Amino acid sequence: RPRVLSGAQPTADSYHLGNYFGAFKQWVALQDDFEAFYFIPDLHAITIEYDPAALRERTYVAAAQLLAAGVDPERSAVFVQSQVPEHAQLAWVLGGITGFGEASRMTQFKDKTTKGGSESASVGLFTYPILMAADILLYQADKVPVGEDQRQHVELTRNLAQRFNHRFGETFTVPEPYVLKATAKIYDLQEPGAKMSKSQSSPNGVVDLLDDPKKAAKKIRSAVTDSGSEIRFDPVEKPGISNLLLIFSALTDRSIDDIVAEFDGQQYGHFKVALGDLVADFVGTFGERTRELLGDRAELDRILAHGAAQAREVAATTLATVYDRSGFLPAK
Ligand code: TYM
Repeated sequence: RPRVLSGAQPTADSYHLGNYFGAFKQWVALQDDFEAFYFIPDLHAITIEYDPAALRERTYVAAAQLLAAGVDPERSAVFVQSQVPEHAQLAWVLGGITGFGEASRMTQFKDKTTKGGSESASVGLFTYPILMAADILLYQADKVPVGEDQRQHVELTRNLAQRFNHRFGETFTVPEPYVLKATAKIYDLQEPGAKMSKSQSSPNGVVDLLDDPKKAAKKIRSAVTDSGSEIRFDPVEKPGISNLLLIFSALTDRSIDDIVAEFDGQQYGHFKVALGDLVADFVGTFGERTRELLGDRAELDRILAHGAAQAREVAATTLATVYDRSGFLPAK
């Protein structure tokens, strides 16, 4: 079976609706037809200032959320990046074939350093896309389901795979990004020109998957909408209402047209109340499931250990080939 791989950083106390619709929903759907590897990139999370105790807790919460979203450890390998040392090892090798200029063109690094400037950013934040390439290439992934903001990193990964293959012999599968157009970018509720983001959005612009249901409904009801009063899908003229329509559609698996028809002639307020209720139900159920899973840490540890063992089997094979092709002496 073809392989799929993806990860989501444990850099906040909860994932948000953008992560769910941009990534997790696809991860869950792909488990049927692919051999799937889904992981929590905790090594990526230490490239910004952080607190070790918080990271440890967030990693558990992240794991519980992936499972609550429907990632099934019976079908997919679910693991934590730092428990598979091959990620860091391959990243070092790939660093040797990555151009400084090429790495400098990564827009996420530029975005994250516009405020503080690159002087205060860590070298780890700069080389982070190389680690991401290692994550993907270790598993010979065919597809990488991500939101739009990660597409450039998958492109870099493709370039590095091709370069390595060309210089040292066919070694890596060249992966394809898998980006679903409709939900590739969920926008900030208060600032519908910007993506919903754990680090850059205002608290009311993001619905966390662990939000209290009432609070989540309130955030939806107070989302910025556009001038005029007509409910229609038009991301250019009506980015606010269009974002809400996308969320409605993704949550119910109904078409936008169908939803627009249902609310034809009604006020924004009415539509937002309806969506707020749907989102409240969704996060209510999601939160309950997550808390239940978090109640049994031993079971989470067991699932993650099993996932890491599955991952290591594949990762070790790829790394052994890479080391051999790279000219390293075999460890005896
Ligand atoms: P991260 O942790 O920022 O986000 C996890 C996933 O959620 C998607 N996403 C969104 N999708 C739609 N709308 C949004 N507003 C939104 N915000 C986030 C992201 O595109 C991503 O798919 N570098 C990655 C993590 C990573 C990774 C990997 C991913 C590390 N190694 C290997 C794939 C393969 C990141 O920071 O995503």
